[in-house]
Amino acid sequence: MRHTPWLAFAIDRSAKTPVFEQICAAVRDRTISGELTEGTRLPPTRAFAVELGVSRSTVVTAYEQLVAEGYLSSLTGSGYTICATGQVELPAHRTPPGPEQEGEQPRKPVPFEASQPDMRLFPHRQWAKAVSRVCRTNPQSMLVSGALFGNYKLRQAIAAHVAEWRGIQASAHQIAITAGSTDALEICMRALTAKGDTIGLEDPGYMPARSFAQAHGLSQIRLEIDGNGARLPPDGTKPQLVMLTPSQQYPLGGAMSPGRRLEFIRWAKANGTWIVEDDYDSEFRYAGRPIPAMAGFDRLNRTIYIGSFSKIFSNSLRLGYVILPETLLEPFRTTLMRFGIKASYLPQQALSEFMASGEFYRHLRRVRRIYAERRKYLIDRLTADFSDVGTFQDHQAGMQIVLHLNDRWTDTVIAQRAAEKSVEVQALSEMASDKCACNGLVLGFCGYQQEEMAAGLAVLRSCFDQA
Ligand SMILES: Cc1ncc(COP(=O)(O)O)c(C=O)c1O
Repeated sequence: MRHTPWLAFAIDRSAKTPVFEQICAAVRDRTISGELTEGTRLPPTRAFAVELGVSRSTVVTAYEQLVAEGYLSSLTGSGYTICATGQVELPAHRTPPGPEQEGEQPRKPVPFEASQPDMRLFPHRQWAKAVSRVCRTNPQSMLVSGALFGNYKLRQAIAAHVAEWRGIQASAHQIAITAGSTDALEICMRALTAKGDTIGLEDPGYMPARSFAQAHGLSQIRLEIDGNGARLPPDGTKPQLVMLTPSQQYPLGGAMSPGRRLEFIRWAKANGTWIVEDDYDSEFRYAGRPIPAMAGFDRLNRTIYIGSFSKIFSNSLRLGYVILPETLLEPFRTTLMRFGIKASYLPQQALSEFMASGEFYRHLRRVRRIYAERRKYLIDRLTADFSDVGTFQDHQAGMQIVLHLNDRWTDTVIAQRAAEKSVEVQALSEMASDKCACNGLVLGFCGYQQEEMAAGLAVLRSCFDQA
């Protein structure tokens, strides 16, 4: 390394950065920080080159680059001088985080995070086969920019899936692929509401929907939950949109009664309101057949249906879908053109093959069986070891159980204590407005083996006993 006393910096010949760029960087940094002020004359190129031990042309290249960037001006006969720049305090260079800090490694499951499938059960070998089959036989299908509503074969496979599993009769042209159900919820809000409009959201409910409604400038009406599911918006309010989880209320669990569904459908028709049915985890019903979707009941008249592959297949593929009434195809097309498509096209063809080959359903049956065992384990343990702290209801469905706490306990306090001991339970009151008398712990069970849950429950028990 050679230092120049004038700029007090060193040329590092072992660095990948070219020498002329190192000179540029030194002058830029010192100019922005105010160390070199307007009018300061830079050393003559020949002398500076000797001082640094580089060729003169390297220094000339650096100076000319800085002239082009506006840091230096060059006047014939007077050399190069610093131009005026605002003084800015530069942040210190920080060592960039490595792959571990960036979450590159598979995350270790942390009981009892809600809505987490067990990605250790992902059918890697079969999925790799489906991807390589598509690459071999139809590589173009993975690379084309794609239709606005997504891969047609996948939309056909989804139409067959929802007919069989959800009782919805829809044609592939009514289905649009999205980047998970959260993306679908956002698209619905964008397509069907404008700033200042009103939206009805379940309370407690899915917080990201609330945050997006807020960011979109919508005023929110809370839909209380009773024994029949979400209640209709209060008289005198007229939201443009209501978002519901009728098959399995999130996060409380439990299906909306047929009577309440009918009330909502009639009300939506009378008021010109749209119902968005978020059915993100409905395939997880552990006794009997899945409860048919509200959109099937309504024959996709006032109801828009949202489904997801995040829970039944992979959280990280980010694929979901929205099924639209015919009258909404055009507004949704316009919205997607305006705001862009977020769903990746590449895995869509492979997923359609995966569904057509039956592998997808083999996987679904397998995870349902495993999650059913885990659910039973959690219920048995809660009954045996936690009956003194609260109560829960077994809805035989979903991905989490809510333990409603007795008045003696505060959910946020217990959740905080558990977090300090690396156990993740979500406080129900944090998924609700202040008006909701919610005090409970949301315990996800799908993503965790029995031993992991046993260890987590021992910690949780100690959080109560500590009080
Ligand atoms: C009610 C509800 N809707 C949607 C989602 C998100 O699903 P996705 O991963 O498909 O965006 C979740 C995730 O937990 C959820 O709880």
